[in-house]
Amino acid sequence: MNENSKSERARPEPRRGVGEISAYVSGDDRSNAARVFKLSSNETPLGPSPMAVEAFRANAERLHVYPEGSARSLREALAAAYGLNPDRIVCGNGSDELLTLIAQTYLSPGDEAIFSEHGFLIYRIAILAAGATPVVAPETAEVADVDAILALVTPRTRVIYLANPNNPTGTYLTYEAVKRLHASLPGNVLLVLDAAYAEYVRRNDYSSGIELAAEADNVVMTRTFSKVFGLANLRIGWAYGPAALIDALNRTRGPFNVNGAALAAAAAALSDRAHLERAVEHNSVWRDWLTKEVAKLGLRVTPSIGNFLLVHFSEEKGRGAAEADAFLRQRGLVLRRVAGYGFPNALRMTVGTEEANRAFVDALKEFLGG
Ligand SMILES: Cc1ncc(COP(=O)(O)O)c(C=O)c1O
Repeated sequence: MNENSKSERARPEPRRGVGEISAYVSGDDRSNAARVFKLSSNETPLGPSPMAVEAFRANAERLHVYPEGSARSLREALAAAYGLNPDRIVCGNGSDELLTLIAQTYLSPGDEAIFSEHGFLIYRIAILAAGATPVVAPETAEVADVDAILALVTPRTRVIYLANPNNPTGTYLTYEAVKRLHASLPGNVLLVLDAAYAEYVRRNDYSSGIELAAEADNVVMTRTFSKVFGLANLRIGWAYGPAALIDALNRTRGPFNVNGAALAAAAAALSDRAHLERAVEHNSVWRDWLTKEVAKLGLRVTPSIGNFLLVHFSEEKGRGAAEADAFLRQRGLVLRRVAGYGFPNALRMTVGTEEANRAFVDALKEFLGG
């Protein structure tokens, strides 16, 4: 073999596991309708607080200046808002970055990490990208199952990811169940509580896990400004956990992983409690309305405590999720296909404006009646 043919054949190869990753497909708004409602990415229909927009604009004067690498101002604002120690918070470029960074920091090839059957897709990607092995725990009635997760814990298990509430089901584990899960884990297994939708939840038996992350050495909670705070475009999230974990993430993260506009807008969004309350109230009212209206049309809806609904379609030809998606899209209602989450015949709909929600129910009636 001469040198030329050798160099033709040799090429850089990504680490093991990368080839198994299905790249994340984000929600889109493709439709030829004159008026399009994007209900595919769990964004808030109310948009961000005007105070956050103002803070973002003010940052335009500082584009040449590096952002605050430690995100101190936002960490202090978060600490004040939630009663936390700012030194135990790390901010990320969306909570996605933190979920991925946790995998990069805590998983090695040969390690296992567990998530539940219909759990958020980023977990699988993060685990495979770290060269580790994803382990999927079955759910019971579309809810994460503590015993099923525990049954899969082995000496190789390093991390467990739990979205609470989960996307795309909208279901949740009570705080009691989360504590039971934690209490049965070996101390060297990290429990990641992804509470991206926590602000929307109005249940007495729910907790984002903030107390557990405060007390335990092996629990981290992640949060985001993308959902109820309406800053998805800026990419800003945060994690709260034990000092040793925060220290480790601060070593592995990029030095300026969060931009200054995001830091300023997030702090401003956090201070606008009235906007937050309006968004939560709007969501509760319309999520409940949508759940009832869709059920009246004879479709099953997974009971959701988030800002979205999982709607299950009929197996009958012409009445399935793919046909419904095409029909709704033509009318400017763009929902999310969720086959990748193990729901080939369901669509996930984000709670929208009153106009979008009513248009959705009207269009669904037409689809089912046609
Ligand atoms: C359960 C869950 N976790 C995390 C995220 C990531 O949000 P972000 O990276 O925008 O903070 C999402 C977004 O869809 C989500 O549904």
